[in-house]
Amino acid sequence: MNGKPLVSIISAGMSKFGKHEGSLGREIFSQAAAEAFNRCPKLDPKKEVKAMFIGHMGESYEHQGHMGATIADWIGMRGVAATRVEAACGSSGAALRTGIYAVLSGLSDVAIVGGVEKMTHRTTAEVTEYLAMAADYPFEQFHGITFPGLFAMMATAHMHSYGTTEQQFGKIAVKNHHHGSLNPKAHMQKEITLETVLSSKYVAWPLKLFDCSLISDGASCIILTKPEIANKYTDQPVHIIGTGQATDAIGLYERESFTSLRSTKLAAEEAYKLANITPDKVDLAEVHDCFTIAELIHYEDLGFCKEGEGGKLVDSGATTLGGKIPVNTSGGLKSKGHPVGATGTAQAYEIYLQLTGQAEKRQVKDAKIGLTHNIGGSGATAAVHIYRNDQ
Ligand SMILES: CC(C)(COP(=O)(O)OP(=O)(O)OC[C@H]1O[C@@H](n2cnc3c(N)ncnc32)[C@H](O)[C@@H]1OP(=O)(O)O)[C@@H](O)C(=O)NCCC(=O)NCCS
Repeated sequence: MNGKPLVSIISAGMSKFGKHEGSLGREIFSQAAAEAFNRCPKLDPKKEVKAMFIGHMGESYEHQGHMGATIADWIGMRGVAATRVEAACGSSGAALRTGIYAVLSGLSDVAIVGGVEKMTHRTTAEVTEYLAMAADYPFEQFHGITFPGLFAMMATAHMHSYGTTEQQFGKIAVKNHHHGSLNPKAHMQKEITLETVLSSKYVAWPLKLFDCSLISDGASCIILTKPEIANKYTDQPVHIIGTGQATDAIGLYERESFTSLRSTKLAAEEAYKLANITPDKVDLAEVHDCFTIAELIHYEDLGFCKEGEGGKLVDSGATTLGGKIPVNTSGGLKSKGHPVGATGTAQAYEIYLQLTGQAEKRQVKDAKIGLTHNIGGSGATAAVHIYRNDQ
């Protein structure tokens, strides 16, 4: 038997991702919270939830900081200990880790972890500037470097070192749009062809429009408890058996490698060790495809293939639904959307649905072990979690 349960997920909720015109982030979060509470009628949130951790990247989008208390107030939980967790696009992956600390410490038997971001009311130029704040200021932002630019440098390095092609990046977009077309909560629910990707405009060579994730609004949350009492709330708990979080240099220019993220490798090592499994035991994964090159690099760093062989793995079809290790069955950040603060727990939401057999048209058959991988910025933060369903 692999690792012992650290904490258990007893419920989960997610708003639709996309454009929520005229709504505030807190209202969008209420939709995710309502779903999670309705799924778990045996839980009395006001009485039993003792801690709340909310991933939220930036106050610039809505001119609203202090998101922990704001969300607690708006979901009817005034009084609960609520804290905002910030790790750029990895904010709710880090919130999940923090929630695990809270439950494992014994201080909170039940905790809500989630995330939210409202972005689409801003122009692309504004969003690009706010996102760039997660990169190094003096040596990156100051010189005008943006996230598409940073990931484009990783893409050219990978092409140079391993012969990876624009077609292989494009195939990741086609796959994730296919998966997203099966997810009613995805931002962009449409199939695309390789030609759609290859003929789309360059954003930062070699990355084109369809290699980039979407700017979206959305919220997600999961409810955690101690494994010993999970059955009090649900017959179908999903256990978290591995957690890992790590950092690397904030600036890409100071990293050991441009074709691999050390933070991912360290976080994965910790999570696999706690879960007592090797990467080949993972049935499906949600990974941080902020750009198609990112997903390809994560295949290698998470051990789904050897270094330099991410392109081959895409070509083989192994990461498509029906393949050996389906990746981003939700549609990923590319098609489901990327409301940055909400992404980490939205990945956990997808794994929760999959492991409890509720993923409908995109259900992975007999899925037992799932993995999520969420990064902040260009990878200065990474969080990896491993989940198991014992039913
Ligand atoms: C790629 C990007 C620059 C495109 O923005 P844009 O050029 O302003 O695009 P617009 O919002 O004007 O949309 C133009 C069209 O492209 C579509 N579109 C926008 N972004 C898209 C994307 N990433 N993929 C596919 N289509 C996209 C829009 O739906 C719209 O389609 P329509 O004309 O049929 O309505 C923007 O989506 C982006 O910055 N993405 C990356 C976000 C990011 O960096 N996240 C953090 C990662 S660490």
